[in-house]
Amino acid sequence: YRRLRVALLGAGAVGSQVAALLLRHGAELADRAGAELELVGIAVRDLDAPRETDLPRELFTTDAETLIMGADIVIELMGGIEPARTYLLQAINSGADVVTANKALLATHGTEIFEAADQVGAQVYYEAAAAGAIPIIRPLRDSLAGDRVQRIMGIVNGTTNYILDRMDTEGADLADVLAEAQALGYAEADPTADVEGFDAAQKAAILASLAFHTTVPLSTVHREGITGIDASMIESARRAGYVIKLLAVCERLQGESDAAASGEAISVRVYPALISRAHPLASVHGAHNAVFVQAEAAGSLMFYGAGAGGVQTASAVLGDIVSAARRHIAGGVGVGESTRANLPIVPVGRVTTRY
Ligand code: HSE
Repeated sequence: YRRLRVALLGAGAVGSQVAALLLRHGAELADRAGAELELVGIAVRDLDAPRETDLPRELFTTDAETLIMGADIVIELMGGIEPARTYLLQAINSGADVVTANKALLATHGTEIFEAADQVGAQVYYEAAAAGAIPIIRPLRDSLAGDRVQRIMGIVNGTTNYILDRMDTEGADLADVLAEAQALGYAEADPTADVEGFDAAQKAAILASLAFHTTVPLSTVHREGITGIDASMIESARRAGYVIKLLAVCERLQGESDAAASGEAISVRVYPALISRAHPLASVHGAHNAVFVQAEAAGSLMFYGAGAGGVQTASAVLGDIVSAARRHIAGGVGVGESTRANLPIVPVGRVTTRY
């Protein structure tokens, strides 16, 4: 096999699992990718930080830039905007294909990164950026590319689903359960991103951009978190036959608002919504995620699985690495993004709060 040099940036909960799986299943992945995937290094900020897996010490470096320059595939799992953005652009401009799970970066600087990749014929893979292990990026971009998606309703943040579920089933207190979700490794480094809905809003922007073949800036996503939800609200919802879930709703609006009166517009919003206990989304428990997609021809589809967690999310990253390797050895035939539509985005809040 031809050998491809793989550079990893970041060795946190997801990164350390990706490295461990790459090393453990190297031979099998080479057969699948048609190329040997050589992990040439792991760039980290602190060489002595504790890691979740036993990785060979000689792989670690603090010199991300040198590592990037010598790589065919660069995997960015550092999170945050900088220096992740600079490193991804460097990787793209040095001819590498890139894999990232960085929802914050894609939701805010996606256009810049995709355009940089387009210019040099590189590809950006980001299956792990939304809903963890659940395959949802490729289905929206590829499998449903011939259909018209009407609406997505997603539980796309594991931490808040874990919290709301425990409040619902055990009457637990938000602050106590948040501490548990942090200990289990579900929460973001700053859990405000989870409980205030920022993380879900980033994922909603990414999913809506793909579903509607347009660009949805994060600033247009209406966002409310779960910090205002208390035990009495959960109890009232239960008595009425509902459960409260933090939903990311992305939908086409037709003639439902001023902006859409003359045609079509979209609305993307994140807020605690009431879901009928009979709805498939009501049975999503713990830190699991689910994305309910309604498309014109396909009808209703439900994607379900682990939305957070290091090794689970590593599965999606490894799939992207295999895809990147296959494309690389095939001579760089692109998989393509389609963002040609330019749909108006309606800044609505709670169009519907019950589903
Ligand atoms: N903090 C995120 C969540 C991790 O709870 O869903 C996965 O993106």
